[in-house]
Amino acid sequence: TVLVVDFGAQYAQLIARRVREARVYSEIVPSTMPVAEMLAKNPAAIILSGGPSSVYAEGAPRLDRELFEAGVPVFGMCYGFQLMATTLGGTVDNTGAREYGRTPLHVSKSGSTLFEGTPDEQSVWMSHGDACSAAPEGFSVTASTDVVPVAAFENDEKRLYGVQYHPEVMHSTHGQQVLEHFLYRGAGLTPSWTTGNVIEEQVAVIREQVGDRRAICGLSGGVDSAVAAALVQKAIGSQLTCVYVDHGLMRKGETEQVEKDFVAATGVQLKVVDAEERFLTALKGVSDPEEKRKIIGREFIRVFEQAQAEIIADAGPEVSFLVQGTLYPDVVESGGGSGTANIKSHHNVGGLPEDLEFELVEPLRKLFKDEVRMVGQELGLPDEIVQRQPFPGPGLGIRIVGEVTKERLDLLREADAIAREELTAAGLDRDIWQCPVVLLADVRSVGVQGDGRTYGHPIVLRPVSSEDAMTADWSRLPYDVLAKISTRITNEVADVNRVVLDVTSKPPGTIEWE
Ligand code: XMP
Repeated sequence: TVLVVDFGAQYAQLIARRVREARVYSEIVPSTMPVAEMLAKNPAAIILSGGPSSVYAEGAPRLDRELFEAGVPVFGMCYGFQLMATTLGGTVDNTGAREYGRTPLHVSKSGSTLFEGTPDEQSVWMSHGDACSAAPEGFSVTASTDVVPVAAFENDEKRLYGVQYHPEVMHSTHGQQVLEHFLYRGAGLTPSWTTGNVIEEQVAVIREQVGDRRAICGLSGGVDSAVAAALVQKAIGSQLTCVYVDHGLMRKGETEQVEKDFVAATGVQLKVVDAEERFLTALKGVSDPEEKRKIIGREFIRVFEQAQAEIIADAGPEVSFLVQGTLYPDVVESGGGSGTANIKSHHNVGGLPEDLEFELVEPLRKLFKDEVRMVGQELGLPDEIVQRQPFPGPGLGIRIVGEVTKERLDLLREADAIAREELTAAGLDRDIWQCPVVLLADVRSVGVQGDGRTYGHPIVLRPVSSEDAMTADWSRLPYDVLAKISTRITNEVADVNRVVLDVTSKPPGTIEWE
C-alpha cells in the first residue's frame, strides 16, 4: 500500500486515484495520524499531498522527522515538498514570489529518477507562496522555474523525492509520468493492482463475513448499488435478496433495465415494489425542493423497511446483513467530518435509518467510481448499467420545478428520453458527466406551432462536464446536436414549446435545479 498523507486540501483524493491509475494500491490517511501509526501500516511508499497552509503559518501541519528516516520511500508534493525541505534542513523562504497556475518548469535530467524521459521544458501546475531556495544536504536539485530555484529535489540513496508543483493535476503535462517514475523507479514498486484482485479478495471477505446467513440490498438503478449487489451475489448467491423500490420518478426504461437486464446478467433474486401511487400521493401539492427531497427520502425508507420485513418473515436463515454501495470518497469525506454547509440534503437510495439492526456489507468501500465501473464490467454487467451517468436518488421528482404529477412526469420522461437518445447517438456520453433535463412546470411561454398559438412549458437542458460533481462546467455541445434535441422535443412532446440551455457552471449553480 502507498499511503497518501492528506494535508487538508482537495488534492489527496486525486493523488490516490492517480496512484491507482498507475496500478499501485493507495490509501489516504490524515496528516494528524502519528507517524508511528503510519509506519505500522507497513507502507510501500508514502506521498505527502499539497495543502492550503504555509509551512510558516501558525498551527501549520508538521511531520515527524522519523517519517523520513524509516527507510520508506517518500514523495512530497507542494506543501508536502516544503515540509520535507524544512524538516530535513533545507531552506524555504517567504519570498513573496507567488506562483499560481500553469508555469514553465526547467528540468535537469542528468541523474534524475523523476524526470527521466520527459522534456527539458514542461508545463506544470503551481500553487504556492513560499519557495524553496536550498535543498537539504544530500539532495540534488532537478528542476527550477523562473521564480523558484528549487522546484524538485531527489535523493536516490534515501529514496526521498519532492516537487514544488502538483503532478496529480491534468495541467501538469508529464505529471503522471513523474509520479510513475517515483513509484516504479524510486520506490521499486510493480504495477500489479487490478480490479480482478478486488473481486477475488472481496468475494472471500464477503463469504467469511456472511457465512450461512442472508443479506439484502437496495438497488437504485445506479452503478454503485448494482455493482455492490453483483459482487455480493457472486459471493453468496441465493443468500442475497435485492429490493428495488419503483417510486415512479425513474426515467424511461430504467425500471425495466433493473428488472430484466440486471437480473439476466447476475441471476440475482429481486423483489420489486411498485410504490408510484404512494409517492405521488405524498408529493401532492408540494413544490418546495427541500420538502420534496424529505418526503421522497422518508417514503423511500418506509417502503424499503416494509419490503425488508417481508423478506425477513420468509422462512430461511436469519437476515443479518445489508449491502451498501459506499465508495471510497464517501468514506474519506465522512472521515473528514468538518462542518461543511448543507447545500442540499442528499438522499441516498438505500440510505437507512439510524436504529439499524443490520451489519453492513460494503464491498466498494475502497474503490473510486471508475474502479467500480471496471469491477462491474468484469462481473459481466451490461454497459447501460456500468456506464450509467449519475442520477439523483429523488429522481425526476427534483427535475420538475413545481408540483410533481403523473402527467408532468410522463412529459419529462419523454423529453429526457429524446435528449439521452440523441446524446448517445452523437457519441457524447463519455464527454459529458450527466445531462439533467428539467421541466419548468410553473412557467409558461407563448409559442406558435402549426398555425396556432401555444402556451406551453420550457424544457431545460443542463449538460455538464465534471470530475467529481463537486464542481462542474457546462458542456459545449455541438450546435447541431442541440438543434436536433430541441426540434425533436418540441415536435414530439405535447405541451412543450421551448427548449433552453443552461450555461451556468457549478458554482454558482448546482448541477440539479432543485
Ligand atoms: P448538485 O445538484 O448538488 O448535484 O450539484 C451533484 C451530484 O449529485 C447528484 N445528486 C444526488 N444524488 N441523491 C443522490 O444520490 C440526491 O439526493 C442527489 N441530489 C443531487 C446530482 O445528480 C449530481 O450528480
